[in-house]
Amino acid sequence: MTKEGRLESKVALVTGAGSGIGKETAVRFSAEGAHVVCADLIGDTAVTTATEIGDGAFGIEMDVTNTPSIKAGLDVLIERFGGLDCVINNAGVTIVGAAHEMEEDDWDRELDTNLKSVYLVSKAAWPHLVTRGGGSIASTASIAGIWAIPADAAYCASKAGVIMLTKCMALDGAKAGIRVNCVCPGFIETPMIQGYFADQPDPEASREYATSIHPLGRLGQPRDIADAFVYLSSAESSWVTGTPLVVDGGLVSGIWAG
Ligand SMILES: NC(=O)c1ccc[n+]([C@@H]2O[C@H](COP(=O)([O-])OP(=O)(O)OC[C@H]3O[C@@H](n4cnc5c(N)ncnc54)[C@H](O)[C@@H]3O)[C@@H](O)[C@H]2O)c1
Repeated sequence: MTKEGRLESKVALVTGAGSGIGKETAVRFSAEGAHVVCADLIGDTAVTTATEIGDGAFGIEMDVTNTPSIKAGLDVLIERFGGLDCVINNAGVTIVGAAHEMEEDDWDRELDTNLKSVYLVSKAAWPHLVTRGGGSIASTASIAGIWAIPADAAYCASKAGVIMLTKCMALDGAKAGIRVNCVCPGFIETPMIQGYFADQPDPEASREYATSIHPLGRLGQPRDIADAFVYLSSAESSWVTGTPLVVDGGLVSGIWAG
């Protein structure tokens, strides 16, 4: 089946596709002509996303911290579509805390889910991209990988790691035609950020403050990030690799917003 669009007939794997940014990215990729495999730790949510998309998309349970789970998901994808062109490493968690107060298990879970997963999924996908003569990997980093956030040490460290891993993989993939980029979102209205606000002493004040520090005057929407992933996975970005693309309403441009 041939589909038309900026990602015409590309086969894409989107992790964390059961919710928020990953869900919207899967929807946008399909609308741009891609065959989409939606992967999530909570398999039911991935299946729901795929069902809502229709059009041949399918959902699978995948734990991005677990190599056998990743390989099983890729086996299903290859069997179904015969190859892989685009990887979106988006699954992530946030566990707040200062480094000196954080439990080691929480640190490990956050680093494994947000950073080690990018290495594991990209490594497993790599030979499939090489077989196609190249492809694209794009990951969800964060402005938290650029700016430090109080009491968010593991998250910030994990996202800074995603930015540097992106640059390293871009150098190592260039000769094989594998482009590797990441997106650094500001605050995006998803269940993750809603949970973050809910955990603050005054959730509404926290939300208002977060809105006020974005110079463009609003929080981001999942679509803002999904559109960046479409660009980074399409031929329009064919000379772009190793780039952390900041999509943040101007947040990290300076400190005088609000
Ligand atoms: N929302 C924001 O403001 C914001 C800002 C910057 C970066 N991000 C990043 O964007 C990405 C998506 O976040 P979101 O805001 O859409 O959150 P979300 O909580 O709505 O979605 C995250 C998804 O990842 C899945 N997931 C978690 N652990 C997993 C695992 N081990 N294997 C597979 N799937 C797993 C969850 O089940 C969930 O469906 C994350 O990497 C997050 O760190 C979010």
